[in-house]
Amino acid sequence: MSLELCSTVSDFRDACDAIRASGRSLGLVPTMGALHSGHMALVDYARQQASSVAVSLFVNPTQFGPNEDLSRYPRDLAGDLEKCEAHGVSLIFAPPASEMYASDESTRVVVRGLTDGLCGAARPGHFDGVATIVTKLFAVVGPSIAVFGRKDYQQLKVVQRLVRDLLLPVRIFAHPTVREADGLALSSRNAYLTQEQRQRARAIPRGLLRAMHSFARGERRAVVLRDSVRDELGHAHLEAEYVTLADPESLAPVELGGAVGSTALLALAARIGSTRLIDNVVLGEETALSVSEEGSKAEGSEHA
Ligand code: PAJ
Repeated sequence: MSLELCSTVSDFRDACDAIRASGRSLGLVPTMGALHSGHMALVDYARQQASSVAVSLFVNPTQFGPNEDLSRYPRDLAGDLEKCEAHGVSLIFAPPASEMYASDESTRVVVRGLTDGLCGAARPGHFDGVATIVTKLFAVVGPSIAVFGRKDYQQLKVVQRLVRDLLLPVRIFAHPTVREADGLALSSRNAYLTQEQRQRARAIPRGLLRAMHSFARGERRAVVLRDSVRDELGHAHLEAEYVTLADPESLAPVELGGAVGSTALLALAARIGSTRLIDNVVLGEETALSVSEEGSKAEGSEHA
């Protein structure tokens, strides 16, 4: 089956309906385009879970703050089409913003609590934008499954929560973070980095790895685990927006004076120049930083 490109909601809905009408199950991989091997690993995984896969390419304006990188966010429709074709995607949805948001639109999907800390604290309204666009995409596609990356761990939890709370008939799968050989998580925003900044960015996986090793040796003091990351970022002159230990499910922060339990999310956002990068590991679950093995292991979770 060849790849079909849709740019309007009505064409895309029809194309999705046609796939379902022919008895095929439909998987969705929502993205903002500028696809890299992290995205393609999600696509490969979706293809294992559903007979046809749709990919959305939409730089969603409502999840960007007024001083964020909406206008300079990388875009590469031709490259994205080529990659999707090579990975057996059936449908691509690349709408203009006016298709997704009417000029007098006034509805937001708000997930409370989970969005208070971590990236939510520094990016007010960000997760409302994410939750809203993901809900709209589910409403257009009606996928039986959708795949999200653990790289955006808080986003994954927000999507799982909204699917559970709104009783949406879609099963969410989580894919592990895909990394470069030196451990840096793949991200469309890595394209902003100069060579020198790219070298300094290695401090991020180095810090996470240090914390993982120290956790594996029995360290449970939150402040010590956090500081293994902060120190590495500091040495490389990266500005830490946050380095936080939190409960992997509720995302409630662990008191710095306290100790972590058998598992803990260790998540960070750091700035290198004007580029903001995020990363995380779940201590007690992950014992190594997995390096780019596309479509390797992924975990399924229904309303988890
Ligand atoms: P985007 O940043 O393009 O990411 C699309 C999907 O790819 C997300 O589920 C993200 O977690 C996943 N992903 C990105 N880099 C990854 C990596 N290195 N390893 C594994 N997965 C990775 O996230 C968004 O777009 C948007 O917020 C979106 C959900 C599309 C809503 O607009």
